[in-house]
Amino acid sequence: MPFPSGFLWGAATSAYQVEGSPLADGAGPNIWHRFAHEPGTILGGATGDVACDHYHRFQDDVALMADLGLGAYRFSMAWARLLPKGRGRMNARGFDFYDRLIDALLARDLVPMVTLYHWDLPLGLEDKGGWLNDDTARWFGDYADLAFRAFSDRVPYWVTINEPAVIMEKGYVLGVYAPGHRNVAEAPVVARNLLRAHGYAVQAYRDRGDGAIGIAVNLQPVWPASDSPDDRAAAERANAWRNLQFLDPILLGQSPAELPSMFGRDWRGLSPEDMALVRQPMDFVGVNYYTRIVVRADPSVAPTGAAIVPSANHRTLVGWEVFPSGLTETLVALDRRNGGVPVYVTECGAAFADASPSAGGEVPDPERVAFLRDHIDAARLAIDAGVDLRGFFVWSLLDNFEWNSGYALPYGLVHVDFDTQQRTVKSSGRFFSQAARSNGERLDAAAAGARGATALPSGH
Ligand code: FCB
Repeated sequence: MPFPSGFLWGAATSAYQVEGSPLADGAGPNIWHRFAHEPGTILGGATGDVACDHYHRFQDDVALMADLGLGAYRFSMAWARLLPKGRGRMNARGFDFYDRLIDALLARDLVPMVTLYHWDLPLGLEDKGGWLNDDTARWFGDYADLAFRAFSDRVPYWVTINEPAVIMEKGYVLGVYAPGHRNVAEAPVVARNLLRAHGYAVQAYRDRGDGAIGIAVNLQPVWPASDSPDDRAAAERANAWRNLQFLDPILLGQSPAELPSMFGRDWRGLSPEDMALVRQPMDFVGVNYYTRIVVRADPSVAPTGAAIVPSANHRTLVGWEVFPSGLTETLVALDRRNGGVPVYVTECGAAFADASPSAGGEVPDPERVAFLRDHIDAARLAIDAGVDLRGFFVWSLLDNFEWNSGYALPYGLVHVDFDTQQRTVKSSGRFFSQAARSNGERLDAAAAGARGATALPSGH
């Protein structure tokens, strides 16, 4: 069975991970630029200074997507290219860059989906407290308003913020992502301001744009390691912290009941006024899906008291369990909890140890082909179960700068040689191309036909 008509088949990237030249043409520095240049933060001392040089090569990358028959491209705008200090003075050359990118996409019939914030806060705002400063939410709304004014005539899909839970946990609790704080008490403040920022942006959009706006959340089913009441309660807390903390205020106008007791005196909830700002009609939810987690009770883990149990099953290079049925589970649960909200899978993909391109220009990546086939099948099952799923974006178009792992985790449909910037389409790129062209109808044939896909691991 094909997917519903109009289903968007696309690939995703984000600004700091692919563009390179973060300070070019008047752009201001951002927190990832500073973080990556601090010694010891990134594997191998890597930075996003060059990345995939998408900033200069976007025309070729757009042509490549068109050749693959993709229908859509999800990318993010670097706030500090448009507003070098995060607010105040605008940088015309930054606007010009995204104008040209959008026009190149439209000229090739690729639908742009723009993320306003994929983690690269302008340093000018970080120096005023970043997401710990309540004003940052309003400044984000102002930036969003400028972006809508400049681009919403041509951009039909907008994502306010990418993965607020990861910003909060890895940026402010674990300190492994920018800005590198390690203070669990900051989490509720950051969460509240990310939610308020989302609210201001949606509010601005209703005045300016007539397309669709949503948020991209990373969701994963949380399973208890055992049937014990302690493990079950730990799984509930982890689910509240990771999955519901950002969804429930936006979609249901409430915060999960588990959160206040996890923080005690440090809890900072949303006031009724803030909740009204945050809970606004949403056109869609973007779901980034990679894995499930299994947890057991462990009081030493703040704030959830839930420790992740490493999986013994098939895993990706970063250790995440390959668990396609979790995508169906996630999409159905989201649908049931929120009354049939429209959904896009805004990211799904896997890092595996790819071979280098052969002399003939082949990069066989059978594990990724199997991963994508099984996850697209899982998405189809969710549609069969009644979920209003409207698109599927692979993370990622290109191998790129994978945050604190540098260039060690390839996710691309397209291999990038970071010495020469040469792009080589992988088997998974050919597979996804077939999936897109057939609207998901002939996945097994496409998987079998993808060169190098002779030894596919079996499905789930
Ligand atoms: C997601 C991020 C994306 C990329 C993938 C692997 O959490 O949104 O930028 O790092 O993971």
